[in-house]
Amino acid sequence: MLENRIRCKKLMDKIMSPDEAAMLFETGMTVGTSGFTPAGYPKAVPIALGRRAERGDKLELTLLTGASVGDELDGVLSRAGIIKKRYPYQTNSSIRNSINEGNIEYCDIHLSNFSQYVKYGFLEEIDIALVEAVAINEDGGIIPSTSVGNANIYVEKADKVIVELNVSQPIELEGMHDVYSPKNPPYRDVIPILKAGDRIGTSYIPCNPEKIAAIVITDIMDADKKLSPVDDISNKIAENLIDFLDNEVKHNRLPENLLPLQSGVGSVANAVLAGLIYSKYENLSVYSEVIQDTVLDLIDCGKVSVASATSLTFSRNKQEHFYKNIDQYKKKIILRPQEISNNPEVIRRLGVIAINTAIEVDIYGNVNSSNIMGSRIMNGIGGSGDFARNSYISIFVTPATAKEGTISCIVPMVSHCDHTEHDVQVIVTEKGVADLRGLSPKERAKAIIENCTYGEYKEMLKDYYKNSLESCKYKHTPHNLEEALSWHVRYMKTGSMRI
Ligand code: COA
Repeated sequence: MLENRIRCKKLMDKIMSPDEAAMLFETGMTVGTSGFTPAGYPKAVPIALGRRAERGDKLELTLLTGASVGDELDGVLSRAGIIKKRYPYQTNSSIRNSINEGNIEYCDIHLSNFSQYVKYGFLEEIDIALVEAVAINEDGGIIPSTSVGNANIYVEKADKVIVELNVSQPIELEGMHDVYSPKNPPYRDVIPILKAGDRIGTSYIPCNPEKIAAIVITDIMDADKKLSPVDDISNKIAENLIDFLDNEVKHNRLPENLLPLQSGVGSVANAVLAGLIYSKYENLSVYSEVIQDTVLDLIDCGKVSVASATSLTFSRNKQEHFYKNIDQYKKKIILRPQEISNNPEVIRRLGVIAINTAIEVDIYGNVNSSNIMGSRIMNGIGGSGDFARNSYISIFVTPATAKEGTISCIVPMVSHCDHTEHDVQVIVTEKGVADLRGLSPKERAKAIIENCTYGEYKEMLKDYYKNSLESCKYKHTPHNLEEALSWHVRYMKTGSMRI
């Protein structure tokens, strides 16, 4: 069985235990790993590194991944105090707490830009690339598992490569990947993707076999990506969004089968895509960074004909269903490096409809996706900026309130800004849709307050806008800074918000 997975015979003597491979790491090293969402990330070696730290070995590493990863990597290493610095995105509660307690430096970067940071040499040199694979081919080429992320770049740049060969990942994943790495400027060429389903690269990550220092065999499965059940609010947001899309089609601003869809991570985004299952749309395509459960549902019911992303992140049930029907899905799913799945050139050319989730939105259309109360990191900007900035239409969805209605997600001024008013065209809440295209700041404020808020918060926002207009004498973007700040401070004082 291993012969089928390690096809380069001379690499057979590189097989070692996770604990032996963990001894190849030295304090101060920079490590680039595979993984994007809890999919396709290394598991056995990080667990062994955690054991090394427990034995008293001092180990401090800078960790680069594709995006968020599972607990076996971010959780184990952060709890063991091994991570000194982390790029470019996370969602794990242990590492989030360590970052917010000031124990880990975290640099949160647009996911497609991050690939370039590494390629351009803007960051530390990579000492070790640690990548999960389903197989290694005859000339050392690494066949990734359920994500590609930045693994191809780390393999190219690292001095040493450690492969976690995961036998729980079916070998049939081979053929789903499309690995392509543009040259650095001034030699960069056009990325020749004209349709979401175009294939332009190789099915493996090229690797000189001499660089492979260790192969660790494991069968630890990808984490079970549980999503909250679709609730009434998410359903209503999805309904409002689909009404908006219907209207765009009616006015010939979108074709009958829409344009390729991108949908962000999380429960709200998942629910929004679920809304399309019962819509009139057929022959849809997806050009996104993550394929979640609902994309499989959309493929199964014949609504989506092709889906391109950099990772497959499923709940356990969906994962089993996917594995059983992998040969069918292989005809419709393509996994690319994140430099390509999130590439501004391709997103702009295909006319992707970007649907991302906000933590808070202000009355002028600026969006906070990452920091609670301006200070406490939640996850990061992830790929939302790659898509929002370059999309055909940039849509942000959010429930109108959070924490059982104690906090308004529409605020006078965002406490942290990830997406400026210039990159945000449509806001959707359960109350309705604010179409901001072509509106001035004052027109945007009226549209957002009127269409996206309700109840007590609506009245408070109306008051804020009216007072600001008067106090700043009708200037271009009316604000009363003291009042805008006190809006947030109020939550901290009443204790309804933890920061
Ligand atoms: N104030 C305080 N907390 C807020 C809030 C607000 N205005 N809005 C949301 N929250 C809290 C929720 O209460 C929840 O808290 P909990 O974890 O303590 O339960 C948490 O933020 C997550 O919100 P939730 O409603 O469960 O939504 P989600 O799972 O869809 O996540 C984001 C929403 C914004 C955090 C998530 O989409 C994200 O990280 N986005 C940025 C990256 C991105 O967009 N990537 C995709 C690009 S393809």
